[in-house]
Amino acid sequence: MRKDNPIGIFDSGVGGTSIWKEIHNLLPLEHTVYLADSANAPYGEKPPEEIVRLSVKNTEWLLQMGAKIIVVACNTATTNAISHLRSSYEVPFIGIEPAIKPAALKSKTKCIGILATKGTLSSALFAKTSDLYSRDNKIVEVVGKGLVEEIEKGEKDSPFVREMLAELLQPMINAGMDHLVLGCSHYPYLIPTLEKILPSHVQIIDSGMAVAKQTKVVLQSLDLLTQDQQQIPEFFTNGDPKILQGIIPFPADSFKVGFQNF
Ligand code: DGL
Repeated sequence: MRKDNPIGIFDSGVGGTSIWKEIHNLLPLEHTVYLADSANAPYGEKPPEEIVRLSVKNTEWLLQMGAKIIVVACNTATTNAISHLRSSYEVPFIGIEPAIKPAALKSKTKCIGILATKGTLSSALFAKTSDLYSRDNKIVEVVGKGLVEEIEKGEKDSPFVREMLAELLQPMINAGMDHLVLGCSHYPYLIPTLEKILPSHVQIIDSGMAVAKQTKVVLQSLDLLTQDQQQIPEFFTNGDPKILQGIIPFPADSFKVGFQNF
């Protein structure tokens, strides 16, 4: 594998660009290829075997693009499919999981909220981590039903989204949470709206930076960090390229977006 091959990143849709941003900020020399499987979003309501099938399809596509490492920028795909991917391919995989541990360690009220998809919250991998911390903490899990669909339409702060969030967060607020874990890579785009709704003492935690740091550690350990400035980031979607383009928090001329019917 060559050092100047790209880092491949996939998600069920546009949300994983929140992880891409952290990777790009930490490793600006690296060439990145991002795949948004928006035509199949949301993954969160699908059965585990379907999530595995879609994750395999995305992996195969990124391998064709020459990916030297694959970042599964989707909690739902990570918690349901990463062990299958790791046992099926030689390429290293980095996954993303809800950051329960840092939230549990920092919580003073010993009550944390987790907002994630049904697929993540019902996975065995999530249950294992959650069990570890539920002895000393009250963990209030809420399925963010409908949120991914709104973000896939480009809606992050509409009255409808605000109403949905207010309703979803209420049980966590009532239970006394002081940390809210965002267990879906789409949700960081809701942070400005969440901040308007949440009591000011509630800290929001997401895993984007941790994923970027882990990607760097693994590339370093395999001597695969590139030394040269690479071409501009490439994004591909099987959904509407305009939505993807609109969500990436960088100037439009600093990346390429293409439609890919895969
Ligand atoms: N970004 C995905 C995640 O982190 C969204 C899942 C979905 O498509 O439902 O779980």
